[in-house]
Amino acid sequence: MASYKIALIKGDGIGPEIIDEAVKVLDAVAACEGFELDYEEVLMGGIAYDVHGDPLPQETITVAMESDAVLFGAIGGEKWDTLPREKRPESGLLRFRKELGVFANLRPATVYDELINASSLKPEIIKGVDLMVVRELIGGIYFGEPKGRDENKGWNTMVYSRFEVNRIAHVAFKLAMQRDKRVCSVDKANVLDVSQLWREEVEEVAKEYPEVKLSHMYVDNAAMQLIRDPKQFDVMLTGNIFGDILSDEASMLSGSIGLLPSASIGSKVGVYEPIHGSAPDIAGQGIANPIATIASASMMLRYALKETRAADKIDMAITKALKEGYRTKDISMYDAKEVCSTSEMGSIIANYAAQCKH
Ligand code: IPM
Ligand code: MN
Repeated sequence: MASYKIALIKGDGIGPEIIDEAVKVLDAVAACEGFELDYEEVLMGGIAYDVHGDPLPQETITVAMESDAVLFGAIGGEKWDTLPREKRPESGLLRFRKELGVFANLRPATVYDELINASSLKPEIIKGVDLMVVRELIGGIYFGEPKGRDENKGWNTMVYSRFEVNRIAHVAFKLAMQRDKRVCSVDKANVLDVSQLWREEVEEVAKEYPEVKLSHMYVDNAAMQLIRDPKQFDVMLTGNIFGDILSDEASMLSGSIGLLPSASIGSKVGVYEPIHGSAPDIAGQGIANPIATIASASMMLRYALKETRAADKIDMAITKALKEGYRTKDISMYDAKEVCSTSEMGSIIANYAAQCKH
């Protein structure tokens, strides 16, 4: 029997609740597909700071590196907001991404037909939206030097090397080849030197993919176009901070940020996590939507473990639960037959996933 080692990082806020549901669903499909998942839980974020005085203990990196994949919930919360930057939960996550070398963050935004009324946009604008934000994850202004602050100033630097742009561009073009063969590269080349280099290098990479249609868009325009006509996009290729912002924006096409998964990949182990944060305001109430995390678990099966059938089963089970009218609170105002808790939603999806005939 195939057996995979998964590093589990629950994190803070709603992290533990949503990860528990993803594990429930994973175990259900593993049992019916005949493979085994061997989890090892490690700490990151505020909880790791509370226990070890460090938001990213070395053990977490070691265990992750020895695993086939990492499934991660969310980190952060007000409780840790006043700590010095290096001790903050977010610093742990950024260092973690860097250590693992996960330079490509794939954030698909699709609209479930069942939730077409959940979006704040008109149904005709969003019906059939299927786009993928490819966000560079371990460079740009998040990591550039110099950075710092003193009493009267704070500064960060946006830097990209040709090497960094080249490798993320290849990811975007390869994905486009499996999709609708369109890449829109988003930058701010009318103002930023770093964006001029970005654009030049993307043009170079594009030559290797003659079938893919490349366009460029300034980030301010892209933010507007995403709302005006999201269907114009297939793959959106962009840097770290622009991708952070645009992927939150893209999530609202689907109706709730609680729905969208992500995969962060590099040359070593990948990290699978919902795009939303730790939502401390609703933590512990059993109302968080576990679908983004369950869909991230499906991406993990598909990309890291190549258990495609199991991944398909999870995706079909999510759609079925929505079709049957099951809704967590965040999406309960739209065509709900039954409003369910975090763990009820997890159980419903787990049951459907285990039943689904392929
Ligand atoms: C995300 C988050 C993180 C980011 C934070 C928590 C550091 O917003 O994964 O999008 O900015 O990358
Ligand atoms: Mn973000």
